[in-house]
Amino acid sequence: MTTKIMRTFDTSLPIDAALPQLTAALARNDAAVLVAPPGVGKTTRVPLVLLDELWAKDRKILVLEPRRLAARAAAARMASTLREQVGDTVGLRVRFDSKVTKRTRIEIVTEGVFTRLVLDDPSLEGIAAVLFDEFHERSLDADLGLALARDAQVFVLFNCAAAPDRSEQCAVCENFSGMADEINHQVILFRC
Ligand SMILES: Nc1ncnc2c1ncn2[C@@H]1O[C@H](COP(=O)(O)OP(=O)(O)O)[C@@H](O)[C@H]1O
Ligand SMILES: [Mg+2]
Repeated sequence: MTTKIMRTFDTSLPIDAALPQLTAALARNDAAVLVAPPGVGKTTRVPLVLLDELWAKDRKILVLEPRRLAARAAAARMASTLREQVGDTVGLRVRFDSKVTKRTRIEIVTEGVFTRLVLDDPSLEGIAAVLFDEFHERSLDADLGLALARDAQVFVLFNCAAAPDRSEQCAVCENFSGMADEINHQVILFRC
């Protein structure tokens, strides 16, 4: 039997309180929306935790960032959390710069890079989940990426600093249930 290994971290972050509910939501459904203010750990902690979920086994997690600078910063931070270099477990793929190796399980990519990636391989072979970071910002690339990711059989998680309005929720998930769990006054999880 495969046993899930719980990763531990040197510092605790407010998002930690929401992680059991988040992983439970993704074990039952194929999408979720995570809403929490800046600084709680949506970007740099959640991907590291999802990596250990059994459904992610041997496959990759893609994290989509709207901007190159944010992508670089997130990759550097996550790699240093693991005491590794970018290109080990955590890789980076932005225009004109790719730091990805055979060891890489989390790829931080810009939304434009993701669009090309998914157009090349619409089934997203080898990808377990796609995280849309800063999804509240909305962009053409993110919306296109979302439509294409929903066609592939992958888990989808949206990180937002502000709750999406009703019409945006529908764009995110066809069968959005409107179910929201408020966790530790800061984190709201919508299960889709
Ligand atoms: N490059 C960094 N250097 C030092 N601390 C950082 C860095 N990136 C993130 N952190 C710390 O990790 C916390 C979580 O950051 P982050 O995952 O970016 O939060 P969120 O995505 O929810 O805004 C921050 O509050 C900060 O304390
Ligand atoms: Mg963030």
